[in-house]
Amino acid sequence: MDFNAPAKDNLFDRAKVIGKAHTRIDGPLKVTGTAPYAYERHDVVAGQLYGYPLGATIAKGRITGMDTEAAEAAPGVRAVVTTLDIAPLGIWDFNVARLFGGDEVNHYHQAIAVVVADSFEQARSAAALIDVTYETEEFDHDLDAAFQRLEGTGDPSTVVGDFDAAFAAAPVTLDEMYHTPSQTHAMMEPHASVADWSDGEQLTVWTSSQMINWNRQALATTLDIPEDNIHVESPYIGGGFGGKLWLRADEVLAALGSRAAGAPVKLALPRPMIMNNTTHRSATVQRIRLAADADGHLTAIGHEAASHSLPGERPGGRGENATAQTPLFYAAPNRRVMHHVVDMNLPEASDMRAPGEASGLMALEIAMDEMAEKLDMDPVQFRVLNDTQVNPSKPDVPFSERHYVECLQQGAEAFGWADRNTTPGGKRHGAWLIGHGMAGAFRGSPTLNSGARVILDGGKLVVETDMTDIGTGSYTILAQTAAETMGLPMDAIEVRLGNSAFPVSSGSGGQFGASSSTAGVYAACLALQGKIAGQLGVEAPEFRDGRVIADGTETAMADLDGVIEAEDSIAFGDFKSQYELATFGAHFVEVGVHVGTGEVRVRRMLAVCDAGRILNPTTARSQVIGGMVMGVGGALSEELAEDPTRGYFVNHDLGSYEVAVHADIPAQEVIFLDTTDAVSTPLKAKGVGELGLCGVAAAIANAAYNATGVRVRDYPITLDKMI
Ligand code: MOS
Repeated sequence: MDFNAPAKDNLFDRAKVIGKAHTRIDGPLKVTGTAPYAYERHDVVAGQLYGYPLGATIAKGRITGMDTEAAEAAPGVRAVVTTLDIAPLGIWDFNVARLFGGDEVNHYHQAIAVVVADSFEQARSAAALIDVTYETEEFDHDLDAAFQRLEGTGDPSTVVGDFDAAFAAAPVTLDEMYHTPSQTHAMMEPHASVADWSDGEQLTVWTSSQMINWNRQALATTLDIPEDNIHVESPYIGGGFGGKLWLRADEVLAALGSRAAGAPVKLALPRPMIMNNTTHRSATVQRIRLAADADGHLTAIGHEAASHSLPGERPGGRGENATAQTPLFYAAPNRRVMHHVVDMNLPEASDMRAPGEASGLMALEIAMDEMAEKLDMDPVQFRVLNDTQVNPSKPDVPFSERHYVECLQQGAEAFGWADRNTTPGGKRHGAWLIGHGMAGAFRGSPTLNSGARVILDGGKLVVETDMTDIGTGSYTILAQTAAETMGLPMDAIEVRLGNSAFPVSSGSGGQFGASSSTAGVYAACLALQGKIAGQLGVEAPEFRDGRVIADGTETAMADLDGVIEAEDSIAFGDFKSQYELATFGAHFVEVGVHVGTGEVRVRRMLAVCDAGRILNPTTARSQVIGGMVMGVGGALSEELAEDPTRGYFVNHDLGSYEVAVHADIPAQEVIFLDTTDAVSTPLKAKGVGELGLCGVAAAIANAAYNATGVRVRDYPITLDKMI
């Protein structure tokens, strides 16, 4: 089905199932520990051996020798494969790091061997017996120095008007530096796989992946085998946050170990290797310059930032583009935006929840707070004044829907913003200084083509798509979509996900999964409706209450002949390029800062979201409050600390990389604006999961400033920075 014009009035505007609260279908499986995760797939193939990975202990250089004799002789060992045994493996389009093969080391904990044994303990102890010698090379991890070197060089991504002249002429200006640290996804389930490549031909992998089709393509490129020989399953995933968008070493090592041992092999990356072997969000250095006229209209916006990516044969690593939102978020006639990706021998930087905007808004929304103060304006009013309904660089390209001002105004009202104390440091309860802060949220809302198959049998409908559920609610909203479209009750629908035998979907990422995959299931259901109409010989029947209704006749779906199957995918046409599609929000936060220790505690938070039709308010709310919790971690504690001499992330476990949890925040509220976006999908839905994170940390930083008068521009806002 081609989606090539804005959606008209349709059944979703009169929805009975879509848009209604429904608890997660997979919820009981997850909370009772019975959802089978990749490492627990004891059931799928007999005779599984255990693999254990070995990581490099230098950041850059060459391996000059690997002595595996002791490991091979250790009890229970079935195979040892080292990176020196095979030629460098291929690198798939969206990967940057070479996952295995050859003697070159590009980052600490790059995988350099796998040991396969009868038990986990045997594999782990044998791996420790491998003796590795290196030739090390110098490396440079200084992102600040790189920014200073690169500032003003290269071609800006956005140039509108004359930034320098406007900035020089403005009565009110801001010019500040901001820093965000490297962060790790910290999902609960590790990267883990069971691989069966025992015949060296057909490879089957049970893994934990957000993107089944990308995963299969990446395996084919990396291992140089046809895609048709590869089968991938990932029906349950214990969190991803972007860390499982890509093929990583667990799958590659399990596959190579399986081929070498002639048996299926299971392998999970130990937590330190998750932090140092897989991807992470890059640190950023950001310079923001804002200029405004005396009445508060922005006249110039400048944003220049740097982040790191791994050097390699594949250039153009993404790093963390902190300028992503700046071309689009606020009006101003003069603009210059530039992002530098700097090669550094740190583990590969790549996407983490709301890649780009998450870090960019941590800085930009502090800058907006500072600017409002310079202008002596309310920060909400300052943002309202600088709203734009069109792309500021391309005035003939409007936003399909943009209700940012409503987010700000409804949020201010619901939070009681007008009652706050506006003098920094002026409100104290006992040992706590109380502050209030707010920030805007912006996140792009792309869609990807997405397919599904639907099978109707005796009134029961099975939905099959290679879409994944990473804890987000995909099973549930896809069942709701099918139930709505086919006029069936929820308990008549069974959704099967995460299997490369199913039609290719959008997968889960970039907050495109919910909007794209529901549209794909809708397309497949329309194809099924056509087949049913054909079987009954009726025109344009209505599907309601388990019946097919047409020409004055009614047929129960359960009475239709045989098994009826249909498959289709939604293809998103070019017409969307006439619009900007994005989601918007506003965050309001109350903090307490302890006068003795400088500790910042969040006391209450509110998010207001404009994200098109909300498909399920329960699952959407869970996504947003999860993002808000992540934002608290980003504001106050999360930081991958680099060892400058050895080039790795030192706090590579969940004991020392401190994430926030729900118990850290006594009160969270989410308001969804009642909006739809007809340009986005037939369901008029957009993404919402990543929006919940965007802007949160800045709202906390602004609240901490309001509490204390201490302006921190360097995350995380730890105690030492408040005193
Ligand atoms: Mo998201 S960082 O694209 O999974």
